Amino acid sequence: MEISTNGAAGATLATGGGAFKTLEQFIIEREADAPGSKGQFSRLLRDIAVAAKIVDRDVRKAGLVDLFGDTGAVNVQDEDQKKLDLLAHEEFVRALRRGGEVCLIGSEEHAEAIPLLFDDCQGKYVVLFDPLDGSSNIDVNVSIGTIFSIYRIPDDHVGHVTVESALQCGRRQVAAGYVVYGSSTILVYTTGNGVNGFTLDPSIGEFLLSHPDIRTPERGRIYSVNEGNYNSWEDGLKRYIKWMQRDDPADDDRPYTTRYIGSFVSDVHRNMLKGGIYIYPSNPRSPQGKLRLMYEANPMAFIVEQAGGRAETGHGPILDVEPQALHDRTPVYLGSPGMVADAVAFLRGERTE
Ligand code: AHG
Ligand code: MN
Ligand code: MN
Repeated sequence: MEISTNGAAGATLATGGGAFKTLEQFIIEREADAPGSKGQFSRLLRDIAVAAKIVDRDVRKAGLVDLFGDTGAVNVQDEDQKKLDLLAHEEFVRALRRGGEVCLIGSEEHAEAIPLLFDDCQGKYVVLFDPLDGSSNIDVNVSIGTIFSIYRIPDDHVGHVTVESALQCGRRQVAAGYVVYGSSTILVYTTGNGVNGFTLDPSIGEFLLSHPDIRTPERGRIYSVNEGNYNSWEDGLKRYIKWMQRDDPADDDRPYTTRYIGSFVSDVHRNMLKGGIYIYPSNPRSPQGKLRLMYEANPMAFIVEQAGGRAETGHGPILDVEPQALHDRTPVYLGSPGMVADAVAFLRGERTE
């Protein structure tokens, strides 16, 4: 029997008959499309998928085996580190180290970039990741995720890799993806040729293509922002939020609806499928906002743009920001293109209504 799994993406997932495609098959097929590929990139994607399955296993039994709670340490951003933050970091580093395709790793949970095979660098790729996104949700069984961003090492850095090798603007990403550990576990990624999503079938331990060629709606009715910070926002943003909340008989969409999980990856995944905007703005205490450019904003911006959406800092596309440091932050306005255009117009004062 064939069942439709996602109206927005028009995906079908066969059950029982075996007419589905595994992530592995999909990666191999796409590799054949890239003449001259030596397979290193495909192996890297498979390593990431394996690490995601291991983290998924840990997340699923976290309440049973003492994986909830803090490690007692803080990370480089001075945030409490959860046990699962650290475990996920270690699982991804282990998988990438074992694979040998990567020469440099950057992680939210590690202050410095981590060089691999430093003296004899075989790997061509730099991987930056947020091993566990939405940490505040870990202990309360709410959706969390992983975000990753992949760059090729610049030719003139081969053999002497430093953090500078990772400091490339988001447009240069060769791939980006995320995993949501939610009501089911889904891995979504792009290599710059559309966006595809693969749901983990736990009974066979495989990611199966469930959401081919994801496209985000031009507009939606959802906005996701931490409204507790309202008083610290700039006037243009305040006006935009008030505009979305106002009832208007001539506008079927308004009032819009708020959905905020507090897990960037889960909020963006929902908005990308249903249509919506995610906002984490700057404020006087954090002029660059909260989200990290290299392993949160850039990969999600690449995916959302590839799905037909838009991703802005408020002053231009996120993907054009030149990074200065591994843990840089950026304001984020990201989602359905029509809604991001509204937000930008309000921020610039081009619209007040
Ligand atoms: P992380 O758990 O990786 O540190 O990221 C948390 C981020 C993001 O996932 C989420 O959208 C945002 O923090 C929530 O922040 P607020 O609690 O300030 O709304
Ligand atoms: Mn995060
Ligand atoms: Mn994190």
